[in-house]
Amino acid sequence: MILVDTHTHLYLEEFDEDRTEVVQSAVDAGVMNMLLPRIDSESHQAQMELSRQFPENCLSMMGLHPTSVDNSFEKELEVVENELKTGKYIGVGEIGIDLYWDDTYKEQQEYVFRRQLQLAKENRLPVSIHTRDSFDEIYRIVHEEHTDDLSGVFHCFTGTPEQAKKIMNLGFKMGIGGILTFKNANLREVVKDIPLEFLVLETDAPFLTPVPYRGKRNQSKYVVHIAEKLAEIKNLTLEETAEITTANAANLFKLNI
Ligand code: NI
Repeated sequence: MILVDTHTHLYLEEFDEDRTEVVQSAVDAGVMNMLLPRIDSESHQAQMELSRQFPENCLSMMGLHPTSVDNSFEKELEVVENELKTGKYIGVGEIGIDLYWDDTYKEQQEYVFRRQLQLAKENRLPVSIHTRDSFDEIYRIVHEEHTDDLSGVFHCFTGTPEQAKKIMNLGFKMGIGGILTFKNANLREVVKDIPLEFLVLETDAPFLTPVPYRGKRNQSKYVVHIAEKLAEIKNLTLEETAEITTANAANLFKLNI
């Protein structure tokens, strides 16, 4: 069984003590690819070091995270634009709009998001989108920028059936993470009606740890617990669920697995 963790931040300091073991144990569990969305310049070096250490397994995206957008966004955007020209990246992410923590820079966040969608199109790369209290803003901008060259994932999807329908109409995927395993998660009902071809798996490690490890640090090998829950909801075997979601991720991010 081969799995892909399409969204994991294993380069963050939470893994400084045991990063190599964490990656190796994920690979041993069949998680052959771990896709690393970038946050900003601060953690960029650690991210690239991890990709260099595991060039077959830890693949990097390039982007500026919405919560890192402030008045110095132009300088950060220039870094993103120049780095993408190197061809080292498998996607543009994570990008988006976050109005939950702080909406001071709403206008700047919208501009930076749109600009990075354009960079994704120019570089023919998929995007990993962070949506938090911002679905309408995100949808409007993706819809306006939408062309056949634009594809990607709404990472950490927890939306409504209507939002899922809008995402599918754009031809985008939804990233399903640990929240699916939480008791009383409304997400289960919504996911039931989304065809498996529109879903990819993710941990968002070190955050959003699935049951039975909830409350502890998340890591990429736990993606199997999300796959198990999804298989249960879809009435499929774990192997079938892994096969289809892995194929979805491989097609979208052009992975060699
Ligand atoms: Ni993330």
